Amino acid sequence: MTVTVERSGSVAVLTIDNPPVNALNTAVRARLVGLVAETEADPSITAVVLRGAGKLFVGGADLAEFDRPPEEPTLPEVIRRIEAAGKPWVAAIHGPALGGGLELALGCHHRVALPGATLGLPEVTLGFIPGAGGTQRLPRLVGIEAAVPVIAERDMLDSARAARMGLLDRIIEGDLTEGAVAFAAALTDCVPPASQRPLADPGVEFWDRAEARIGKAAKGAAAPLAALRAVRQGVEQGIREGLRHERETFLALKASEESAALRYLFRAERAALRPADLRGVAPREIGLVGVVGGGTMGSGIAAAFRNAGLRVVMSERDATALEKGLGTVRALFEAAERRGLITSEEAEARRAGLSGCVGLEGLADCDLVVEAVFEDLAVKRAVFADLGGLCRADAILATNTSYIDPRGIVAGSVSGDRVVGMHFFSPAQIMKLVEIIPLPETSAPVLATVFDLARRLGKVPVRSGICEGFIGNRILRRYRAEAEALLREGVPFADIDAAMRGFGYAMGPFEMQDMAGLDISFLNREAARARGEDVPEAPGDLLVRAGRKGIKTGAGWYDYAPGDRSPRHSTEAARIIAALAGADRPVAAEVIVERLTGALAAEGAAILAEGIAASPADIDLVQVHGYGFPRARGGPMFQKDRKQNP
Ligand code: NAI
Repeated sequence: MTVTVERSGSVAVLTIDNPPVNALNTAVRARLVGLVAETEADPSITAVVLRGAGKLFVGGADLAEFDRPPEEPTLPEVIRRIEAAGKPWVAAIHGPALGGGLELALGCHHRVALPGATLGLPEVTLGFIPGAGGTQRLPRLVGIEAAVPVIAERDMLDSARAARMGLLDRIIEGDLTEGAVAFAAALTDCVPPASQRPLADPGVEFWDRAEARIGKAAKGAAAPLAALRAVRQGVEQGIREGLRHERETFLALKASEESAALRYLFRAERAALRPADLRGVAPREIGLVGVVGGGTMGSGIAAAFRNAGLRVVMSERDATALEKGLGTVRALFEAAERRGLITSEEAEARRAGLSGCVGLEGLADCDLVVEAVFEDLAVKRAVFADLGGLCRADAILATNTSYIDPRGIVAGSVSGDRVVGMHFFSPAQIMKLVEIIPLPETSAPVLATVFDLARRLGKVPVRSGICEGFIGNRILRRYRAEAEALLREGVPFADIDAAMRGFGYAMGPFEMQDMAGLDISFLNREAARARGEDVPEAPGDLLVRAGRKGIKTGAGWYDYAPGDRSPRHSTEAARIIAALAGADRPVAAEVIVERLTGALAAEGAAILAEGIAASPADIDLVQVHGYGFPRARGGPMFQKDRKQNP
């Protein structure tokens, strides 16, 4: 039975029971339609309470049905019938009411909830919009200003806020079903359903502001603006036309490439957190984390762990470096407090859970130590040799190395079963990707623990085999090489950057180099040349030799005004590069995009063939969460697959 029925006096209590999330699949919808008729026909029933079994009220539509044409009865039809019922329906919301689940509740005449429930319409994150009246009924219940962020900007509500807005009739403490039944039994007449309530147009200025804000945050994705348009349509043309337009938009977007890409990533992200081979392996308790190195990465990693509630000890070489590292982390908490993201008590608590030590002895009690010292094999080897002797035998030792083989870091000093690569991305407190790099000996509990930690940190963990640069930096090298190949063919670098921005990247490959600084890879190449290796002159070398090291020197591929990170055309850079590339031979933006995303996919295919990545989806997660590949396009492997199997 997908929906069970019980009686409590004159109130029928319907429980949607469709594990794991009570998704509104065809069977549930059909049963609800049947139950509307049954409860209407039974004169002994005066009201209906609708609730969910398990943890959620209703998690939404059934995504498994999304790739097929909609089956009758559709959700709008179910909701229309509930709304038209002569007896009041009361949604009793104990846990998340999301997407179609919230729309179902909006179709009921009343809503009550437990204090901890969450309500939201996250459809736009999957590339479509609510398709069963959410964009029409919510504004009529709570007003346009409150409804637009929920519908188009992923604003999730808790019970308290939902009640203040007028979305909930009542918050019930204690037994929700009992409270909902009492509430329903006391109802004397039917209030007008949401779709029949009046709605005032907030005026053109409101719409313009909302459009600008939502359009900017959407980064090229279509769904958020379409959601706003759907709300507006219902305001300007009335509920009938609003519902028709909403459904039409929903069906069109659900069939779009964008939605296919976003649903693919959604599934991949969930799968990434629970690798099949680690099911049933219990993660270890981790409470205290050591971070060795308080530089760019160490400070961000320390903040990421503190933000997730783990206590952190930072280790540095000397007191000055330690103070600097701790100061960087504290400044991050202060910035979060200033921006209103955390309370001052929370900021204080985060500072209090962070301590530091000079040398490694202070890390002896840690459950996990993440090493983020210089990218230098000898330095890393010395750190691991000391940690191996110092830390408890069950403590996990992780390295954040970008390129060095972790087997070489521990060879002859530490047993590999407790060692793993945890490769964070800069800034580590923000970027979601963590490459997890097991050694051949890494034990399953150690691996299960770092995957579990990644989940606690809100990260997306992707397992990588061992190779130069692991998955992400190895692909990045190929991408950069392809951009340079285009450059050498005479394609102006500003055109290359503009094409990739047009595709959805925040910046193009050369702008990215300016941001990261051109000097580090230049110095690496110079060091290799000094060792007698034959390293050809890269375009970036010419710029560095001219003193152009990127934004930090005010000049790189572009010029930068002091305090302004926006790139401006540089005649000097153009002249330097022309010496290498000759006359301009521009090509269409699509050709540039094709070449560069093709390079990503080609290296991805090689990585798959070598078994470095376990699946194409893992490669796409790396690109989207670590390297700025536009989310709405799924990833290079997804794109390649869609081209080959349209
Ligand atoms: P960094 O130079 O900013 O910081 C390294 C810190 O380690 C310095 O503060 C230094 O004083 C400290 N240190 C060196 N030896 C130490 C020791 N024996 N004990 C305690 N502290 C010591 O370097 P960054 O950029 O933070 O890189 C660290 C590691 O993270 C490297 O392996 C790098 O390849 C990797 N990585 C860097 C990324 C980046 O974007 N910068 C991204 C991902 C990984």
